[in-house]
Amino acid sequence: MLDVILVHGFPLDRRLWEQQLVAAPKDLRLHAIDLPGFGNSTESPASSVEAMADAVHRASAGMKRFALGGVSMGGYVVLAYWRKYGHEKRVAGLVLADTKETADSPEAKVDRNGVISLVEAQGVSPLAVRMLPRLVSSEANEGVRRELRTIMESQRVEAVIAATEAMRDRPDSSDLLPTIDVPVLAIGGELDVITPPGVMAAMASKLPNAKHHVSPAVGHLPWWERPAEFNQALFSFLSTLS
Ligand code: MLT
Repeated sequence: MLDVILVHGFPLDRRLWEQQLVAAPKDLRLHAIDLPGFGNSTESPASSVEAMADAVHRASAGMKRFALGGVSMGGYVVLAYWRKYGHEKRVAGLVLADTKETADSPEAKVDRNGVISLVEAQGVSPLAVRMLPRLVSSEANEGVRRELRTIMESQRVEAVIAATEAMRDRPDSSDLLPTIDVPVLAIGGELDVITPPGVMAAMASKLPNAKHHVSPAVGHLPWWERPAEFNQALFSFLSTLS
């Protein structure tokens, strides 16, 4: 039995992984966590990816060996975890979904500050409206859009602001990739506009033991559009670790 910790993206929570929790094979024990301040978390929001990695470390207490996966911001947290806690050698493998190792560009940092001002002034709703077309492809159905919007709109302003600061200030992790000596699944949507397949392929090429999988015809959150295809790739990778 392999424990698997899954870290959500921005500005979402553990509900992002419901499609995996219901479909997981019996040899995997999935733990979809809420980052500090998100979802049901009662912890104070974390304004650095390192503090988010500390939350993952707390969630892993008692696990001798586990796999760790994250999507987008969750991937930044996975890399921060490896930087701080990789030496503990408890990680069996990583899943990096629709994410990247590089830091924000100067333009992206300016955009983050705009997001913070927007959310401070108007709450999370306008951000959810702005993000939705970037999270799924134009083919995504109304139900999926509604559900994602509901999850985004339920997040606390303080958590969303802190996470935006954390992403804006996250370090470049390019130096880390060659040190990741466990198997990695780098998986992303073909139509992802935030971390397109070329970005994922470049990251995978710098990892010593990575497999790159492109989920066809879907956006930034592949399993929200084609759950079976994504789960097949995810679970067959995780089963090789257990
Ligand atoms: C996410 O999906 O978690 C975010 O869009 C990532 C980012 O803004 O860098």
